[in-house]
Amino acid sequence: MTTSPPWRATVLTLFPEMFPGPLGVSLAGRALATSLWELEARDIRASATDRHRSVDDTPAGGGPGMVLRADVLAAAIDAAGIGEGRPKLLMSPRGRPLTQARVVELARGPGPLIVCGRFEGVDQRVIDGRGLEEVSIGDYVLSGGEIAALALIDACVRLLPGVMGKEASGTEESFSEGLLEYPQYTRPQLFEGVPIPEILTSGDHAKVAAWRRAESEALTAARRPDLWARIPNKVPSNVPKRPTRQKAPKNTTDG
Ligand code: ADE
Repeated sequence: MTTSPPWRATVLTLFPEMFPGPLGVSLAGRALATSLWELEARDIRASATDRHRSVDDTPAGGGPGMVLRADVLAAAIDAAGIGEGRPKLLMSPRGRPLTQARVVELARGPGPLIVCGRFEGVDQRVIDGRGLEEVSIGDYVLSGGEIAALALIDACVRLLPGVMGKEASGTEESFSEGLLEYPQYTRPQLFEGVPIPEILTSGDHAKVAAWRRAESEALTAARRPDLWARIPNKVPSNVPKRPTRQKAPKNTTDG
């Protein structure tokens, strides 16, 4: 029997020292140390050819900032020597927004090559010529693609077999249903005068499930009308009221 190589992220960056960064600790870090996945951070500057090792230049047509040179980045991509089967991503605020569905696809595959943009952008000819898929992690601008790449890799790695244990699956199901997570509570039973909702300590599993579903729906409708609009067969459920601070009886404290 042949075993397939571990899931691998190949990152092209001007700041390879930013990797593994936070991915070197906790679940992802343990999985990296035990070879459940692999990370290769490659320095784009190693592909610079002129005597100043320059990687960027002023934008054609004028304007502020600097653009990553096509020849340098293309050489860095080619030198990474990744096979045909691996997705080639460019982290960019103008990319398609990353979704859990895309994360699941990326986690199931052999693992992507990820180009981290810097400066004002990347020469369009290398995006087109190397078939880079532009990916955004949200409608805000980071100073470079590195933190976006770390977020994308983290989202993939936690889905790899053996990384999380079985507790991951529940959360995944609820997100893939397109709803936001319901609120969670744990001890103490009373915190700053506010009790845990009674249903959650009732032991009635059907009621707990219905309460959580209603909370998820209410949160999704209020915060993410875009997700809510895509939920089929919506039946408005009774929106549960959160417990509030209990009145302390006279002359006592709630401890
Ligand atoms: N680089 C800069 N901002 C970014 C964003 N929001 N998503 C992905 N890459 C980026």
